[in-house]
Amino acid sequence: MADGAVVNTFDPYAVRAQFPILSRQVNGRPLVYLDNAASAQKPRAVIDALLATMEGGYANVHRGLHTLSNEATEAFEKAREIVARFLNAESAEQVVWTKGGTEAINLVANGLGLSIQPGDEIVVSEMEHHSNIVPWHLLRERRGAVIKWIPVKDDGSLDMAAYAGLLGPKTRMVAVTHMSNVLGTINPVAEISRLAHAAGAQVLIDGCQGAVHATPDVQAIGCDFYVLTGHKLFAPTGIGALYGKAEALEALPPYQGGGEMIETVEQDRVTYARPPHRFEAGTPPILEAIGLGVALEWLAQYDRAAVQAHEHALYQHAVDRLQGETWLRILGQAEGKGAILTFAVEGAHAHDVAQIMDRYGVAVRAGLHCAEPLAKRMGVTSSTRASFALYNTVEDADAFVDALIKARNFFV
Ligand code: ALA
Repeated sequence: MADGAVVNTFDPYAVRAQFPILSRQVNGRPLVYLDNAASAQKPRAVIDALLATMEGGYANVHRGLHTLSNEATEAFEKAREIVARFLNAESAEQVVWTKGGTEAINLVANGLGLSIQPGDEIVVSEMEHHSNIVPWHLLRERRGAVIKWIPVKDDGSLDMAAYAGLLGPKTRMVAVTHMSNVLGTINPVAEISRLAHAAGAQVLIDGCQGAVHATPDVQAIGCDFYVLTGHKLFAPTGIGALYGKAEALEALPPYQGGGEMIETVEQDRVTYARPPHRFEAGTPPILEAIGLGVALEWLAQYDRAAVQAHEHALYQHAVDRLQGETWLRILGQAEGKGAILTFAVEGAHAHDVAQIMDRYGVAVRAGLHCAEPLAKRMGVTSSTRASFALYNTVEDADAFVDALIKARNFFV
């Protein structure tokens, strides 16, 4: 676990050694794990912390008066404080546990939906993940909301002039990703928030990728809501967090009903707890939250800028080696993009490319990447994606390029 010291010389080999899974073989080759945007692997610190909690400190939280419950509650609430610090939130009370990014966005959309009038507008971008599209479609179908789309330019950046033109008195929410899970584009989220607020709208930033590979400082961004998911942040699945400005959370009605989210329950009335507990009905994901706290503490020992530079260098190394390959089309080359390399191979289906690469031990994702409107915008029916993390090395980037060229050779 981190002792608070920041490691200045970033050493991916030392990081990698902390991930047991990365030393396994796949199809007789060393695993080259480049599906990090889908889900990241887990360091020994997280694995050990989960085991230690289950073996020595587990019970339900907030309910018991016994020692184990108190210990579990303390660890669980400490994890909330770690998330608040990670996001530079003003207080841990602004962090709501959810089971992931998708639930966090649905929580906000559901609450907002209760006051949506037909014709109210929701602005999203063409590069959103389905988790930041479909909850708003539900408001379109159920409440008559109108969805407006910020166009994506050919280089994969957002058309900010067009965005400004979409805002108006009917805009209720602007919901945009911090970093595209397909293009790697890192969006100007502070400017997006500023413009939305000037139009009187709220802002939700989907940080499922951005929290990992960009800088999720909610005060600097100025958003009303920021969403992250644990499993991409080296933590277990089944845990995510919704940050909300105090007044935004206070104004949001409950999402699900049950224990823990109430103040009093009578036969003819109920009163609700204050945020964040108002949004946490039922027994929460206790182990998973503790695991997320440990993962973020583990991550905090590494300098964020050094990690970003390392990941980007791997991306650039692969792109440089593929320079001049006319059969390859890279999707998204916006300035300042993160280390996601999504591409189409001429004459080959993305699924076939990914399956052939797997034979060489290289794990990449293929398909629509849960972003169908973006695929349409970029003029592809599917694509293959390599996404880098801090434990990847230049050898991984080379293995990726070699396997891609071999895969391509199947189709010539
Ligand atoms: N959202 C995840 C991805 O982009 C699953 O692959």
